Amino acid sequence: MGRFENVADLAAIAPESVALDLACGQGRTTRALLAAGPRLVHAVDVGAALDDDLLLDPRVRAHIAELDTLPLADGSVDAAVSLNAVEHLADVGAHLHEVHRVLRPGGTAVLAHSDWDTALFTSDDDALTRELLDRFVAHVPARGASTDGFAGRKLLRHAAASPFTVESVHSWADPHRRFDEGSVAWKVATGILAAAGDEPGLAARAAGWVEGLRRAARTGTFLFAVTDVAVVLRK
Ligand SMILES: C[S@@+](CC[C@H](N)C(=O)[O-])C[C@H]1O[C@@H](n2cnc3c(N)ncnc32)[C@H](O)[C@@H]1O
Repeated sequence: MGRFENVADLAAIAPESVALDLACGQGRTTRALLAAGPRLVHAVDVGAALDDDLLLDPRVRAHIAELDTLPLADGSVDAAVSLNAVEHLADVGAHLHEVHRVLRPGGTAVLAHSDWDTALFTSDDDALTRELLDRFVAHVPARGASTDGFAGRKLLRHAAASPFTVESVHSWADPHRRFDEGSVAWKVATGILAAAGDEPGLAARAAGWVEGLRRAARTGTFLFAVTDVAVVLRK
């Protein structure tokens, strides 16, 4: 099982229930939630990136909305997942209050995030990997004051300040051996390149580093992993 299946599993989706994917992006968590057999998945994101087949799926309702003003009625959702969203939010507390409002009493929320500082890349140049990663975790795309590359390890703080009861805490690191366009490792490496981009010398070395990752992937020696943290919350 990978990250998306893990969070869907923790959400314990009951057949015929109503689920909520918060910051759905292209819909990878939405797909994992659908596999558990809910009646409906609300897929919410401020952008419009949801894959076309999910937009056409009668079990999916897509909403363009902010995570602190959800267009859903009080108590209308059985289970919600917020995966890799909080690093983008200026006010995580407002997000969790909204999730609490739309969940039914007894409902489950899974608050999950990768902890980017734990990212592992197989590279010929460990020192450069460290340098690039340090820069990346200090430059995760910023939209709010809470943005940082250590988001996973801080989830419990957000949970403790929310109206939820913490039920359990989980962590894992999925191994990824692909490094082609669209792969998880590629996406993270793209962020690392962007973070190095405003320093010309480092940007050139980062481009060489990515070439090295490509070579490793071609010979089957590439590995990427990052620790994900998930907190299961009960209303
Ligand atoms: C890193 S992606 C995660 C997507 C998905 N949850 C996943 O794990 O594949 C972050 C998503 O958060 C969305 N987002 C950022 N700020 C948001 C906000 N204030 N309200 C709703 N969505 C937001 C972005 O549009 C993006 O799709």
